[in-house]
Amino acid sequence: MITQETIAEIFAVARVEEVVGEFVRLKKSGRNFKALSPFSDEKTPSFVVSPAKQIWKDFSSGKGGNAVTFLMEHEHYSYPEALRYLAEKYGVEIREERQTPERVQRASERESLYIVTDFAKGYFQKVLTENPKGRAVGLAYCKARGFSAAAIGGFELGYCLDERSAFTVAALERGYRLEFLAQTGLTITRESGDAHLDRFRGRLIFPIHSFSGRTLGFGGRILKSDGELPKYINSPQSVIYNKSETLYGIFQSKREIVKRDNCYLVEGYTDVISLHQSGVKNAVASLGTSLTVAQIRLIKRLTQNLTILFDGDSAGVKAALRGLDLVLEQGMNVRVLLFPAGRDPDAFARSCSTDALREFLQRESEDFIRFKARLKAAEAQGDPLKKAAVVGDVVRSIAKVDDFIKRELYIRESAAIFQVSEQALFSQLNRYLQRDGREAAGRPKRKAFEVLQSEPREMRPHEAELERALLRAMLLYGTEEIAIKIPGESESYETTLAEEAIQLLVEDAITLQHPVLRKIFEEIRRHWESRDELLSGAHFAVHPDPEVAAMAADLMLEEQPLHDWKRMGVYVARPGTRLSRELLDTIFRYKRQFLERQLKTLAQGLKAQGESERTAAIREIMNTKRLMVVLDKFLTRVV
Ligand code: GTP
Ligand code: MN
Repeated sequence: MITQETIAEIFAVARVEEVVGEFVRLKKSGRNFKALSPFSDEKTPSFVVSPAKQIWKDFSSGKGGNAVTFLMEHEHYSYPEALRYLAEKYGVEIREERQTPERVQRASERESLYIVTDFAKGYFQKVLTENPKGRAVGLAYCKARGFSAAAIGGFELGYCLDERSAFTVAALERGYRLEFLAQTGLTITRESGDAHLDRFRGRLIFPIHSFSGRTLGFGGRILKSDGELPKYINSPQSVIYNKSETLYGIFQSKREIVKRDNCYLVEGYTDVISLHQSGVKNAVASLGTSLTVAQIRLIKRLTQNLTILFDGDSAGVKAALRGLDLVLEQGMNVRVLLFPAGRDPDAFARSCSTDALREFLQRESEDFIRFKARLKAAEAQGDPLKKAAVVGDVVRSIAKVDDFIKRELYIRESAAIFQVSEQALFSQLNRYLQRDGREAAGRPKRKAFEVLQSEPREMRPHEAELERALLRAMLLYGTEEIAIKIPGESESYETTLAEEAIQLLVEDAITLQHPVLRKIFEEIRRHWESRDELLSGAHFAVHPDPEVAAMAADLMLEEQPLHDWKRMGVYVARPGTRLSRELLDTIFRYKRQFLERQLKTLAQGLKAQGESERTAAIREIMNTKRLMVVLDKFLTRVV
């Protein structure tokens, strides 16, 4: 946990235009900067950075926020990762809560290892491009394989001279400690004196990057044909490198994975590089391990869609297929593509154009469960006993799928492929589901509904969503100027989104139900009333009340894009509606729901009360109804 003081310090020094400027070419435009949206393909710039407000906004995607949220959106950093990045950039020392001496020790050890891997990466790169032997062997190999200069640079390839300890000697000379060279596995130390060995001698170096671009370890490919030595070796496990938690190419691919909303998973280093070089830049490799949950999570930060490309001569297809249930369990959509015998993505990518390659990958890949069903059906042809077993195997995979509609479709399809009755498959599916402790097929989850029935005072889901949406809007776009057209009149007036929200809620004495959201709203309101100043998200992201800070960060970084509200049934908008309109609409909807609830309470007040109370209640009800009519007018105008 990074301390609130550190977070405040980071926010105080970070300049949004400088942070964004590292990733996007900004052009001055009045008091703001403008650029082409980094989140979509566009011809006219709609991406704006405001140095005055310290926020950015992307009109093409509706995203926006501060320096931290930019790093989270653009680089897909987590909140702490973004903070660390800024701390490093601006030289802020990070203090953490609950720091034990062991933790400090471990953190500094990790940093020491990163310093060594970083040096090694640069050293090997230099050897590849500048050292005569490196060029003659390493660079010549790259050229012969057709690696472009851009690919060599982008993946930071290098070469380790084929000498006992050229690298280790150079590192020690520059003051890097043997202890850390050994821990990263770059140097193999020997008991006897100075007989240290470079682990990667004579190998082409593939640095393995973390999600955020740090050098975790290396892969090395042998270049001379020597049957004795393994073709590839990798860094051993260390405090910073765990092969089952990393994916080769994730750093170089992450942006494109988001953009394409799909990730290709291949088997080797060279497959990744060739695909990138051929223009398919959403490709990573799992380096000889079967996919782990940690690796799937890495991909899931970026997309729900995974396409696995198997080499034609891959021995492990069947074993790999079994491992894929894990991916289904993580709620991902999986497709597979089996290359023809003797072909691999590397060779194939080099043989055709980007468009043809993309087209091929799209066309030839097949939904994983369908693929598995067909493969198994062919395997069990004419053998009824075997068929029963493989059908069970396929149904078990289907049971891992979370969406019951999808499950039903898969069952239908599998029944056709195996030529068995759907009924038989459904009952088998239900057995698996019950065994896994999940609900039966075809019956939606009822939980939310039951809660509502037993606890009538609980906020209805829509209202809770609307409260969140409202506060999220106030934090992110509160200072945005909007023009309000008064219903039934030709006049309009200018205000800001947050002011309008405050006015609308305060004039009807509406209070938010969620305690933390209410705190945030009240603080904005009080500050505005007393100082005529609008507090924005950055203020709350560094709020001393951790509950508030957490909620603010959560709201501002909520994954739900605005246009997705429609799916939740919260909101319907015509495409092309301006953002501020959408947000205003949220406010009105929220207010209407509040009134509806109030109306119910008032209606109860009509019973069993004295004459004067009843008259007052009736007046209240009339008022509320009138207000609802106005709101409805507004809503029907907007929607
Ligand atoms: P090229 O032969 O250079 O085209 O490499 P490749 O990536 O196509 O290699 P291949 O298809 O033979 O293997 C796929 C992946 O498995 C490699 O990228 C390595 O990660 C891994 N691998 C292959 N051979 C070895 C080996 O001998 N040892 C280890 N540890 N891993 C290997
Ligand atoms: Mn290959």
